[in-house]
Amino acid sequence: MASSTSPSTLETVTAQLQATPADPSTMAAQLETNPMDPNAPLPEPIATTSRLIIRPMHPQDAPSYARAAGTPLIAKYMSLAFPSPYTLEHSNGWIKLNLTDKIPNYVIAEKDHPDVVIGGMGFKPGADVQSHAAELGYWIGEDWWGKGYMQEALAGLTEYGFESGRWSRLWANVFSENQASVTCLEKCGYKLEGVLKGHVQKHGEVSDLHVLGLTIEDWRKWKQSKET
Ligand SMILES: CC(C)(COP(=O)(O)OP(=O)(O)OC[C@H]1O[C@@H](n2cnc3c(N)ncnc32)[C@H](O)[C@@H]1OP(=O)(O)O)[C@@H](O)C(=O)NCCC(=O)NCCS
Repeated sequence: MASSTSPSTLETVTAQLQATPADPSTMAAQLETNPMDPNAPLPEPIATTSRLIIRPMHPQDAPSYARAAGTPLIAKYMSLAFPSPYTLEHSNGWIKLNLTDKIPNYVIAEKDHPDVVIGGMGFKPGADVQSHAAELGYWIGEDWWGKGYMQEALAGLTEYGFESGRWSRLWANVFSENQASVTCLEKCGYKLEGVLKGHVQKHGEVSDLHVLGLTIEDWRKWKQSKET
């Protein structure tokens, strides 16, 4: 049976195909910007402390992320948005969301094992008249509790948040029972600014909420006082 495509149409189609060759440099650039490329190198840290790095997520973080986040105590004083139990599906979805939408959340790893996630932390940027402020969120796997790691990581994240020029106020909400978290913030210069009575309810239990905050001016003064 004869083709319905006339020779002249064929020529046009062939010419169009030749006019759009696969450009290796364009393809390489597209691959480089694919946030979910599992073969991409580990991203550079945003902060380095004496024992830890805080770095953007990588698609291959999902298994160690889920392992570190997977014990029930981690979620006790977190919002309901933090899944418990924490599965591989959760970590894959969370990492994809953060990488695709460029959300300022990061992972914590030990310097010696930069590819093994031991915790997570990040900024929830304020909006409107609070655009200069960001709320901090953070957690670390139970195996690493009590080593002073979160104090170190929070100091690094705070420095990054202020020095990046994006925010001039950082703050955190803490369940009143979560005294270890309050201590970590206080050790980084944050001050208790208020207690919201009965403000949170988790699985039927009501708690007070402690608000701790730090302005860039107070952070500079606090840093200076530590150096002298
Ligand atoms: C809260 C959390 C971040 C602390 O991390 P961590 O790495 O164990 O904390 P650090 O070791 O850096 O410091 C904890 C500090 O709190 C102190 N602390 C522990 N329990 C305490 C308590 N009940 N009351 C007062 N201080 C307490 C520790 O002694 C330590 O202070 P120190 O260095 O002066 O001894 C960690 O337990 C965690 O991830 N919990 C689950 C998630 C979570 O609650 N995130 C915070 C949400 S606001």
